[in-house]
Amino acid sequence: MSLLERLRIKHPILVAPMAGVSTPELAAEVSNQGGLGALGLGANTVETARQQIQATQALTEQAFQVNFFCHESTPLDSEANQIWIDHLQVEFEKFGATAPSELKCIYPSFKDNDDFLNLVLETAPQAVSFHFGIPHQYQIEQLQQAGILTMVSATNLTEALEIQEAGIDIIIAQGIEAGGHRGIFNAQIDGAIKTSDLVQLIKKHCSCPVIAAGGIMNGQQANTMLKLGADAVQLGTAFVQCKSSNANAAYRAALFNHPLTQITSSISGRPARGIINHWQSRIDQTNRPNVAPYPYAYDLAKQLNALAVKNGDSGYGAFWAGSNVSQIRELEARDLINQLIVEMNHSQ
Ligand SMILES: Cc1cc2nc3c(=O)[nH]c(=O)nc-3n(C[C@H](O)[C@H](O)[C@H](O)COP(=O)(O)O)c2cc1C
Repeated sequence: MSLLERLRIKHPILVAPMAGVSTPELAAEVSNQGGLGALGLGANTVETARQQIQATQALTEQAFQVNFFCHESTPLDSEANQIWIDHLQVEFEKFGATAPSELKCIYPSFKDNDDFLNLVLETAPQAVSFHFGIPHQYQIEQLQQAGILTMVSATNLTEALEIQEAGIDIIIAQGIEAGGHRGIFNAQIDGAIKTSDLVQLIKKHCSCPVIAAGGIMNGQQANTMLKLGADAVQLGTAFVQCKSSNANAAYRAALFNHPLTQITSSISGRPARGIINHWQSRIDQTNRPNVAPYPYAYDLAKQLNALAVKNGDSGYGAFWAGSNVSQIRELEARDLINQLIVEMNHSQ
């Protein structure tokens, strides 16, 4: 069976799962147009994740995927957190506030909470994908026994081989161009491989279907990936501007007016590509101390951003975007899918 048949989609186009940006409306719009819709649920509680899945199921009978973070959980290191809190104290003081005294693990890993596994088994989406790592073997087996396809992001060949060895169905080849967090398992060692190279590398050494992700903004670029061996493409940044996404006005404006991106770990504690703002230009300096571990640093960043926004400064938002964001177009999700298909048909 082809990948499209397995995913139950007409076109080899997936919208990326985007925590904080995905909505049931965006997911359903893509699915109803023959692509694969997605919900990024990594920042959700079990209850809000359930609501999102059920809302999507009410809007479409077509297939869609859900997505969770699968990081190795970091034990609370109060000392490391305190060093980062102290470093960002000056940023809180700019708004007449003080930094919090402690940080929370705001995103538990899928590996550590079987309530998420049970939710997926109960609601049975077509596919479930994972970022930052591979679920436990028993979790993979239960998902597959329930007929749910499993997908994991790889940023290099070592990760891809590990994913294949674990019996995962599909590999998402996430290149260095990609917006948002790098799915890299161990963020200390990063080969920074571009999407086109990664697709060819994984295709050469693995037998799983491969989905290309990173820097794809139009049908020509999608076709290039398919010609290099990808079985489908996954686009994130191109869909952030859609009316049905959850992006706020400042984020949308930044996509069109400041299309310059950089990878930084200073926002969440893990490397992620976003539009350059105070985080990249002011905070991520070479003389900064080590950033608190993921996701503790993200707790602090979110608190600082909320404070700044209250004071009219949108320069602390996590405006995730890929390196090709300058090619973004203002289109509704259904029109974007249709446009991609026209471009793919014309550039074959
Ligand atoms: C706003 C945004 C949020 C993202 N959130 C997630 C996420 O929650 N889970 C995930 O697996 N990938 C996430 N990603 C990464 C995407 O899955 C994908 O790798 C990336 O969007 C592809 O590159 P592109 O943005 O250049 O299209 C996110 C990307 C963006 C732009």
